[in-house]
Amino acid sequence: MAAPGQQPPPPPAGVRGMTKLDRTAFQRPLDVCALRLPAADIAPILKLLKTQMLRVPHLRPVQPLGELPLMEPSGGGEPGADAPAADGPDQKVVLLDPERVPDAGGLPWSGLEPLGLSAADSPLRLTLRLAYDNYRADAVLRAVLPDGQDGCTSFSRVGHLIHLNLKEHLLPYGELIGQVLMDKHPGVRTVVNKLNTIDNTFRNFSMQLLTGEADYLVEARENGCSFRMDFSKVYWNPRLCTEHERLVSQLQPEDTLYDACAGVGPFTVPAARKRCRVLANDLNPESFRWLQHNVTANKVQDRVQTFNMDGREFIRTEVRRGLRERLAAPADAGRLHVVLNLPALAIQFVDAFVGLLSPDEVPADQAVPLRAHVYTFTKELAAAKRSVTEALCTNVGRDVSRHVCEVFLVRNVAPNKLMYRVTWDVPAEVLCAMDDGPVLKKAKLTEP
Ligand SMILES: C[S@@+](CC[C@H](N)C(=O)[O-])C[C@H]1O[C@@H](n2cnc3c(N)ncnc32)[C@H](O)[C@@H]1O
Repeated sequence: MAAPGQQPPPPPAGVRGMTKLDRTAFQRPLDVCALRLPAADIAPILKLLKTQMLRVPHLRPVQPLGELPLMEPSGGGEPGADAPAADGPDQKVVLLDPERVPDAGGLPWSGLEPLGLSAADSPLRLTLRLAYDNYRADAVLRAVLPDGQDGCTSFSRVGHLIHLNLKEHLLPYGELIGQVLMDKHPGVRTVVNKLNTIDNTFRNFSMQLLTGEADYLVEARENGCSFRMDFSKVYWNPRLCTEHERLVSQLQPEDTLYDACAGVGPFTVPAARKRCRVLANDLNPESFRWLQHNVTANKVQDRVQTFNMDGREFIRTEVRRGLRERLAAPADAGRLHVVLNLPALAIQFVDAFVGLLSPDEVPADQAVPLRAHVYTFTKELAAAKRSVTEALCTNVGRDVSRHVCEVFLVRNVAPNKLMYRVTWDVPAEVLCAMDDGPVLKKAKLTEP
């Protein structure tokens, strides 16, 4: 572990602008001080030098002198310039960070002297040979990609596949970026660039293979469950893992979940593992196929029914049926939860709740056990919660703000775009409305 503020030495300046990865060009010398110590007494000294030791990937800071990667001297001769001859196995050298210990003055002598070291014994001076292996991916890319412009630090990994969203100016470096990410992340076999923002119906994106195998069948683990899918044909976002867990934690085992835009099952499978009954739906036939696969693979098929239809229709048929059954059996403790995670559109689906039941199906003295969790985007950064609640009310066609339990910020999608969840209890006045849900031009909310 590097100490706070400690940066490993960067690659040589000459790699800037490289578009074909030449791993040999990353070699550079690094002059360091080092202490030669008896291996047997080394532990308390290392404790003292914790923040002074050299921290470089794939280079042990404490090792026998003979095993160090020392620079060949330019005029031939022994490696390591003035390096002393190698010791036996009872001696080790401790490499010191040249930024923190440029010379003997940088060492904590007051602590070292009681341990038998003396300021009179000056440290060794060694010239190490750093190579491609000694830099992390971010250091390699920072050194190669154009200086002073947006870099490429953010990517997501799903199983053996990394996907990223390259800015225009980085496209010429696409293959190199892919190779570096693959080199530096063991187990990655495929690196792709998303070619567009996700704006098609099924929320998957077209992608360009940057490097590796064109194998998009991935295996992901999330919240203790496994998910298999064809990543090029379905929606999957590892950044929603915490939200999936958060939502499922709100369910009780006696509840029923209606997952209207279920994807390949990241709400469905863990909810069923929690022993909830789940009705899971997705319009995309590929998502539906993998949803079924994942339900079976996680052995929850006895609690899950799957559907392949439009989310609104799912509410109008399956949620309606479940609600009727539930209201006819008031002794049941469970609640019905409807999850609509299709943030670009789902807020419009809430009109499907309007007039879902006839008034005589909802006993006047009975609370309606129906809670909806609707995901949506907003660009109203300054008044996000209010704009989300207004959008809900506008689409339900009436002011339901007093039935809202939570307006939760799920994540920042882009600098000017936030993803929210609005959780609300669908009231009898909406379910039994005799109209088709008059669409308010702009909802007027009651002030809290
Ligand atoms: C943003 S993804 C969410 C998937 C999953 N629930 C999750 O949390 O990762 C939205 C899903 O809605 C599906 N979808 C798109 N339009 C739909 C519609 N009209 N009805 C039902 N599902 C739809 C897409 O295929 C996609 O799987």
